[in-house]
Amino acid sequence: MGSDTIVLLSNRELEKMRQAGRLAAELLRHLEPMVKPGVSTLQLNDEAERWTQAHGARSAPLGYNGFPKSICTSVNEVICHGIPNAKQILKEGDIINIDVTPILDGYHGDTSKTFFVGTPSPIAKRLVETTRECLKRGIAEVKPEARIGDIGAAIQEYAESQGFSVVRDFVGHGVSNIFHTAPQVPHYGTRGKGKRLRPGMVFTIEPMINEGTWEAEVQSDKWTALTRDRKLSAQFEHTVAVTKDGVEILTLCEGETDY
Ligand code: MF3
Ligand code: CO
Ligand code: CO
Repeated sequence: MGSDTIVLLSNRELEKMRQAGRLAAELLRHLEPMVKPGVSTLQLNDEAERWTQAHGARSAPLGYNGFPKSICTSVNEVICHGIPNAKQILKEGDIINIDVTPILDGYHGDTSKTFFVGTPSPIAKRLVETTRECLKRGIAEVKPEARIGDIGAAIQEYAESQGFSVVRDFVGHGVSNIFHTAPQVPHYGTRGKGKRLRPGMVFTIEPMINEGTWEAEVQSDKWTALTRDRKLSAQFEHTVAVTKDGVEILTLCEGETDY
């Protein structure tokens, strides 16, 4: 099968994605109270790894294309793929995206949120709340017969209406027993363009929204992606399934309907 072929998951596979997705959401909820001034990003990583193993899962990022840690921790001007580090200590006013992907029974739950360290500046608060709303608006487009381009268009329209920009270099992706697969899900685009959505498709939507320019550069560690102008970047991510009549968010905690 070509790598641009979009797989439709069986009900049995969807049930495994629900379990993995819920575990991912619960891992983020477990880490959230640790997000305080003085904690290092390595402490967040190590607790994530411990908790993941204790729940019978493993961390997909660890060793993935050489990624050295179990989660991504992306602070302030880091767009994504920040590497946890003992010397990186969170301080009052920072924003941090924590991106987790446990593998449970072979299937991946991929989700991330941006958290405030203490009290955010007005601009940080507005950027983060805009990014959360971008994800909601992207998810609201997902239903059978809609197009991939509808998702990106909804996100881009809202982000730009708030004076922010959409990162181009990183996109959402199909996810199942494979971490990153077809389709690609850009967070910018044109309504009516792109592949049609069908029940059984499972992918992430993970908008990265910047305060200034959308342009990114990758640091010499080959992973850490940061804004060219060093202004702030925020991100939220859910794994979603296209259902018969709409969308199911797979990365919510038990009993949660919103985020
Ligand atoms: N979880 C990230 C995503 O949303 C991917 C991280 S890949 C890693 O797709 F290697 F950096 F961990
Ligand atoms: Co992710
Ligand atoms: Co992802």
